[in-house]
Amino acid sequence: MSIADIILNRRTIHTFKKEKVPDTLIEEALRTSRWAPNHYLTEPWRFYLLGDQAKSAIIEENSALITCAKGEHVAAIKSRRWSAVPGWLVMTVLKSHDEKKQLEDYAACCCVAQNFMLYLWEQGVGVKWTTGEVVSTIEFAQTVGFDSDAERPVGLFWYGFPEQVGTQMRKPLEDSLQHVL
Ligand SMILES: Cc1cc2nc3c(=O)[nH]c(=O)nc-3n(C[C@H](O)[C@H](O)[C@H](O)COP(=O)(O)O)c2cc1C
Repeated sequence: MSIADIILNRRTIHTFKKEKVPDTLIEEALRTSRWAPNHYLTEPWRFYLLGDQAKSAIIEENSALITCAKGEHVAAIKSRRWSAVPGWLVMTVLKSHDEKKQLEDYAACCCVAQNFMLYLWEQGVGVKWTTGEVVSTIEFAQTVGFDSDAERPVGLFWYGFPEQVGTQMRKPLEDSLQHVL
């Protein structure tokens, strides 16, 4: 597959097969993905590969949030869906008091995230980048094990072998491109 094919064919995956993706493949994907542009070479990303205990704790935290907002029935459906996700990775970015640096560091992490998703797509592995409410909670930081004074989440990345690949559209390029003289 050419890089263009991988970019065009990658889709966010919402349902995964049960089979687990080996940690070694995820580590290799991260090792490569870090070769992303990052201003001043800050390498501001941190990765947390979650095990079953952390996954269960996050599912419970999310269930409590959903129960409050939408009731027990919806929470139970979400918990079942989340429990079926085989792979969980969290990426955080180091916090900075300098607004420009913070933006640039977040941008660098987003480059890593896209590299990660494209690398895995080529290997037949799908990813969903999520930033649901639970990801921003203090309980989430505690469960994952990062200091929320020093790092903030970029996302929770669910990954696995795709059960189904959906379709997506993009607006015509002309809607967003202007040639400037
Ligand atoms: C920063 C960020 C956060 C996202 N958070 C969520 C999310 O919480 N839930 C979700 O279903 N998709 C989430 N997505 C995935 C987008 O919905 C998805 O990329 C978009 O629908 C386009 O689909 P595609 O990735 O298949 O092209 C997120 C994407 C980004 C870049």
